[in-house]
Amino acid sequence: MKADVLLGLQWGDEGKGKAVDVLAPSYNWIARFQGGPNAGHTLWLDGNKIVLHTIPSGIFREDCMNLIGNGVVIHPPSLLQEIKALRQHGLNFVGKLMISAKAHLILPGHRLLDQAYESAKGDHKIGSTLRGIGPAYTDKYARHGLRYGDMAGAQGAALFGAAHEEHLRQIKTLGFELPTDLPNQVQEWIDAVNELLSDFSPSDGSWLLNQALDKGQKILAEGAQGSLLDVEFGAYPFVTSSHTTSASACTGLGIAPNRIGNVYGLFKAYCTRVGSGPFPTELHDQTGETLRRAGQEFGATTGRPRRCGWLDLPALAYAIRLSGVNQLIITKADILSGFEEIKIATRYQGLDNHLSPYPDNSSECIPEYKSFPGWNLAPSQSYSNRQQLPQNLQTYLNYLEDQLNLPIRWISLGPERTQVLECH
Ligand code: GDP
Ligand code: IMO
Ligand code: MG
Repeated sequence: MKADVLLGLQWGDEGKGKAVDVLAPSYNWIARFQGGPNAGHTLWLDGNKIVLHTIPSGIFREDCMNLIGNGVVIHPPSLLQEIKALRQHGLNFVGKLMISAKAHLILPGHRLLDQAYESAKGDHKIGSTLRGIGPAYTDKYARHGLRYGDMAGAQGAALFGAAHEEHLRQIKTLGFELPTDLPNQVQEWIDAVNELLSDFSPSDGSWLLNQALDKGQKILAEGAQGSLLDVEFGAYPFVTSSHTTSASACTGLGIAPNRIGNVYGLFKAYCTRVGSGPFPTELHDQTGETLRRAGQEFGATTGRPRRCGWLDLPALAYAIRLSGVNQLIITKADILSGFEEIKIATRYQGLDNHLSPYPDNSSECIPEYKSFPGWNLAPSQSYSNRQQLPQNLQTYLNYLEDQLNLPIRWISLGPERTQVLECH
């Protein structure tokens, strides 16, 4: 058996939470492999909105195990809060959630360092979610990070103390003022780790997943952020601090490349981006505003307005190439309903087509567009297969499949788990 991967092909917020929740009944395991609580994955269940930040999006499906993999960075108070909120929804975590012993922890100082670095950048801010992601991964790769499993050992408290002291030293060097409630934050952090450890013993995630595959069980690796925010292949430095492409599922879970099966690439029918950085098809006009309002494009983690623009074929082809995507999922085609004209950027000026090498400095790219007539959708339950969709939407989907040379497997037409069409 092989593990499938689902990841975002744009700048995040493509609808990964919803898509994973839809696919989860076909899987035994859902495993997050990178990122941390900078992610906000939204699920709508019978009119209730749930936003997951660190917990995998299979948690609401019975008989589905969920793993927070070694590649994820965990902020214990946030994770505990997330678990407690879900328990209030009646969710029972016993035997359903595993946490890798090797997952690194986000310490209180990491969050302060994130703020200190961003404010030092002045006009050149990355637009980080300020969740401490960058500094936590920095410590991991500098080889003085702290892992979930380390906190279960006798040395846990001492290791935390030393790391915290070092963070305080760095923060002072940067001239950043410490918050007056820092001692409370530290205590809350320690209490949260202890509470998590008492309910969730640190696991060997890689062993669990490889055993599951040996037994013929099915695994879906859930990506966070999006391909264009990848630390290696995004528009550096306007990226996150982890690898968001499919290769990261191997290192972030301990699964070998030859055990990866399908790679689902998810994209919105238009583009959004939160934070700074290049966005070639961004709309600064009324159409962009209309998209933001129609799509309720406000960050699931920070509430910030998302920048909006047309679909970008060169960027999409680049992301597909980086991850070996073999199945596409399109979301939010319903949001374009009612638009008279819909555009797709088909290439950047000066480049042959959307399959040309993707430019490193995409901020200087001028896109050329192809125009499509819009469509009007009836409520999503009116459609039980793709052939029933408005002809103009079918033309748009067929064009994308043709240009990207890949099948669209799922079409999401609303936020609820029922609002989706599977294409055969
Ligand atoms: P994620 O980070 O990729 O999981 O995406 P977010 O949850 O941050 O943002 C996606 C938003 O779109 C959420 O509010 C979802 O509820 C919503 N959503 C997902 N798929 C669809 C869809 O097909 N149509 C509509 N209208 N909303 C959707
Ligand atoms: P999901 O999983 C959208 C963006 C931030 C910022 C940059 C760096 O919900 O799709 P960081 O906090 O990682 O230091 O921020 O990356 N970013 C996201 N944008 N969706 C996300 O996650 C994101 N996670 C980080 O806005 O531009
Ligand atoms: Mg999100």
